[in-house]
Amino acid sequence: MLDIASNRPALPPEIARRRTFAIISHPDAGKTTLTEKFLLFGGAIQMAGQVRAKGEARRTRSDFMQMEKDRGISVSASAMSFDYKTFRFNLVDTPGHSDFSEDTYRTLTAVDAAVMVIDGAKGVESQTQKLFEVCRLRDLPILTFCNKMDRESRDTFEIIDEIQEMLAIDVTPASWPIGQGRDFIGCYDILRDRLELMDRADRNKVAESIEINGLDDPKLAQHVPAHLLEKLHEELEMARELLPALDPQAVLEGHMTPIWFGSAINSFGVKELMDGIGNYGPEPQVQSAEPRKISPEEPKVSGFVFKVQANMDPKHRDRVAFVRMASGHFKRGMKLTHVRTKKPMAVSNPVLFLASDRELADEAWAGDIIGIPNHGQLRIGDTLTEGEALRVTGIPSFAPELLQGVRAGDPMKAKHLEKALMQFAEEGAAKVFKPMIGSGFIVGVVGALQFEVLASRIELEYGLPVRFDGSQFTSARWVAGDKAAMDKFINANKQHIAHDHDGDVVYLTRLQWDIDRVIRDYPELKLTATKEMM
Ligand code: G4P
Repeated sequence: MLDIASNRPALPPEIARRRTFAIISHPDAGKTTLTEKFLLFGGAIQMAGQVRAKGEARRTRSDFMQMEKDRGISVSASAMSFDYKTFRFNLVDTPGHSDFSEDTYRTLTAVDAAVMVIDGAKGVESQTQKLFEVCRLRDLPILTFCNKMDRESRDTFEIIDEIQEMLAIDVTPASWPIGQGRDFIGCYDILRDRLELMDRADRNKVAESIEINGLDDPKLAQHVPAHLLEKLHEELEMARELLPALDPQAVLEGHMTPIWFGSAINSFGVKELMDGIGNYGPEPQVQSAEPRKISPEEPKVSGFVFKVQANMDPKHRDRVAFVRMASGHFKRGMKLTHVRTKKPMAVSNPVLFLASDRELADEAWAGDIIGIPNHGQLRIGDTLTEGEALRVTGIPSFAPELLQGVRAGDPMKAKHLEKALMQFAEEGAAKVFKPMIGSGFIVGVVGALQFEVLASRIELEYGLPVRFDGSQFTSARWVAGDKAAMDKFINANKQHIAHDHDGDVVYLTRLQWDIDRVIRDYPELKLTATKEMM
């Protein structure tokens, strides 16, 4: 059977019901609160406050996590699965702080859609915009939630205009706020002709929903004060004239975003958004790969690693590879092929990340995220299949923007330090470069905070106090080209050459001028600021 809209075969129901998405937002817009309400309505937790409470308990386990708590940021991404109505939601959490954006970028390669949360008083903020641009690169469908409507917020048209202009995407209102700030009473659900009234008294209560027969229904006047009703009529009329109507295909293609207004803390507008994700969000999508794309409905199992987290439990030194299933129906115990090394791998203890805890995953379908504990075999960008040599593409590694030298406090521990650094490099927590000349390593990160996190983790997980020192270099580029040109280049620039943890050649620079010079003098070489993980 063909799905008319997408011209692709209809997916098996188990796959078709999956929605795999991330939430993007600027810190403080309400991502944590919204996540918590998703889990509450998805039945994954019983009481609001559990995620935070659990977070606190977990965080106090280590100083590193303590640091995370002090900073009020979430350093590592995790995945959560839960059912909502007929859907299975896989929510992949992204760290909100800009210092961890590389991790976030990669996480976005594992999802089919993003929910963009904005603060109704602040509109589109810097981090939202940055993350949005990444979603745009992949034409990810985006659903928007305008939060904190219980507080004084900006004019509705102004918010919509700002999104349209700053992000260059069509915005269609799925709901419309009634009243403002203290006078905010709820929303008119445009998609379903319903009135949703917010209950300020009970934050966890889902809004009262009143079915309305169009805007002229006299029932509206029973619930909405006359002056607000008049304004609602006016605004909706204007909206109808000025704003595009919902076009589900345009949403799926990433050209249009529906916007819901609400208040996560008051549980208001959240269920409507969840219904929206289910009804208008994409099913698991085709994955780009070499030498051919992977379709979710293919019976054979495949998946790729988009994140490796080492030492989730410092006592066990385990690593968990987060794998996005790209196709098929995975069952626990399956033998998969690790394409990079061509070795078979029995996946006997995969975990599914349910909000309450990690659980053994007996099965997983295309779209799901599973965790595979391993001892370092699995790296970011790795593909697992039932034998075919496929390699998922498009998982970027960015050139670091900050470089520092690193030394072990105890010089006798240099080997230990190397091991620790390599592990973090593979995990994607930092870039590690071994200069051709001299001893020691240069560590590169995207945000300064990462140095502190690394120092703290190396000490905690390896018992190694380390020192980061300034480096004369400020940037790095990967270099590729034919052997003769490379040899000539390396010989002439030894002071600037290093190798990354994969052994690839990196050119360390002080100034943009260095890069321009190489480009001019070595036209046969290619300098890149990103490297595809493989
Ligand atoms: P983040 O993950 O995006 O950083 O945001 P988070 O959910 O932590 O929310 C940031 C702050 O905004 C929190 O307040 C939270 O309670 C508040 N907030 C979230 N949703 C709403 C909403 O709909 N209305 C209002 N008025 N506030 C909301 P906080 O004071 O920083 O923390 P807390 O003491 O409330 O935990």
